[in-house]
Amino acid sequence: MAHHNPKHRPDPYVEDGFFIPSVPIPDPKKTDEYRWYHAFSAMRTIARNPLESFNEEQYEAPISQYELFGTPFSVINDPNLIKHCFVDNRGNYKFSEIRQRVLRAVIGDGLISAEGEKWTHARRAMSPMFTPRNVKTFAQVMKTTTEREMPNFLEKDGIIEIANPMAALTYLVLSDTLFSGEIQREQHQVLKDVSTALTYVGRPDPLDMLKAPHWMPRLTRLRGLKAVKNLRGMIRELTEDRKKRLQNGEDLPDDFLSRLLLVGDADTAPFSDRDIEDHVLAFIGAGHETTARALSWLFYLLSNDDQSLARLEAEVDALDMDATPPETWGEHLPFTLACFEETMRLFPPAPFIAREAINEDTKNGITIPPRSVLFLNTWQLHRHKTLWDKPDAFMPDRFLGQAREAIGRFQYLPFGVGERVCIGQRFALQEAVILIALLARHYRFEYAGEGVPWPKLRITIQPENGMPMRVRRRRKASLGKAG
Ligand code: HEM
Repeated sequence: MAHHNPKHRPDPYVEDGFFIPSVPIPDPKKTDEYRWYHAFSAMRTIARNPLESFNEEQYEAPISQYELFGTPFSVINDPNLIKHCFVDNRGNYKFSEIRQRVLRAVIGDGLISAEGEKWTHARRAMSPMFTPRNVKTFAQVMKTTTEREMPNFLEKDGIIEIANPMAALTYLVLSDTLFSGEIQREQHQVLKDVSTALTYVGRPDPLDMLKAPHWMPRLTRLRGLKAVKNLRGMIRELTEDRKKRLQNGEDLPDDFLSRLLLVGDADTAPFSDRDIEDHVLAFIGAGHETTARALSWLFYLLSNDDQSLARLEAEVDALDMDATPPETWGEHLPFTLACFEETMRLFPPAPFIAREAINEDTKNGITIPPRSVLFLNTWQLHRHKTLWDKPDAFMPDRFLGQAREAIGRFQYLPFGVGERVCIGQRFALQEAVILIALLARHYRFEYAGEGVPWPKLRITIQPENGMPMRVRRRRKASLGKAG
């Protein structure tokens, strides 16, 4: 085993026929060895890339506990413990201060960060939009938008940065489904602002870790805030416009934004303008980058695994895309869905789920001290040695048939768990299947970077120096229907 060196980047390799992407080697140091003198270097690593700060214990033990500058941390990697903290005894856990500081600075009381009565009210008002039945009504738009847009972003000569077309496509799908296509004026600038906001805002600032007061400017965040201001301006304009149309008695499109505007009756209070702005921003932030990142990693993994690529292409080629309603594609494309789920196991788009313990909590002889930060870290959970066979290998078959059934309910959690579970989970899975099917049917992606796409955590998991890809048009696609 190589000596631990966070800067060392192992080459990806193939073992027993399975592709193993390059990821940070865990630090063999145990977490209880983190004393103050170690804390500074740990903090530097965390600021650079939290994935490089994880240690071996976290991939082997049910819990790993340590203290950084007086704050106790508990990283839980045991399905029973996760169930206990996020479901059975969830009243004892609130959002951690670190999480809220980072998010609140940007999205205020948007659904992701709202708490208490504000959250209950908003989640109840929005849930009907995300029921299985309602999500199906978005499928046709997802397909039409992708078919219309993918050539614009993918049919370019040479090598392209794959994150861009993926984010553009998922953004346009979000815009066309939830906002009837009305949040895409100056599309290019909007995409840039969203990406800047996520990059700069998603960085854990050392001042946050030290719990510095709010008024101290976080230098890592200034550029992000400018982008957020632009986005807020766009949302405000659109909301004003809808309100005017409403006042003039015009019909509004029946979409997410209109429904937010129309909330409010005898039992439910309406949303304020500020609330609507926060919620829309939260959905822009949460609703496309995550899916786009997973798609980029998926095509990277497939470009290194000929066998899985061939199986996936055969499956999507066999589907009659014109005759089969897109809301049912998932049922016809089990291997495609399995590839997506396996990608989210290895590269969970939003792997840091943080809470804070209110009182001391004890379960199975493990004690979580009061005021400790609780991390559900799906990067570790999904690669935990006691839970997975060949944890680092890309093996889509894990998510098929009986193997799928053997995966525990609290062992695979790309969408989080408990009452704050992702509201867009079904939306994202349906969208991913439709996008992958259309993309793989028409194109083949080949990784064209010099080195490895080194995973780095910034809210989502991003390849450090991007993910350059060569996009080839598949011959079959130009003939229309697969034969
Ligand atoms: C592959 C794609 C996605 C992944 C991996 C993902 C992951 C997550 C996770 C882990 C959480 C929980 C965070 C926590 O407990 O702290 C979450 C919450 C949330 N997600 Fe997603 N998400 C995805 C797609 C979407 C989409 C498409 C939408 C909207 C259409 C969306 C909207 C939200 C919202 C609004 C919340 C906050 C829910 C609440 O607190 O009540 N997400 N997501």
